[in-house]
Amino acid sequence: MAFTPPPVMDTDGCPHEGDGETLLADTRMALCRCGASESKPLCDGGHTEMGFEAG
Ligand code: FES
Repeated sequence: MAFTPPPVMDTDGCPHEGDGETLLADTRMALCRCGASESKPLCDGGHTEMGFEAG
């Protein structure tokens, strides 16, 4: 029996055929603690420009 990959949905909810291609390998998320993110509440890497370091 052949393996059928599960359906994959993009962020707009549109289905894509599964063909085994890796679309997103890292699914980790981080909350912004510096206040500079333009994607709050998530970190978008903006902290690097302002030199924010966690204490
Ligand atoms: S912690 Fe705020 S942008 Fe990364």
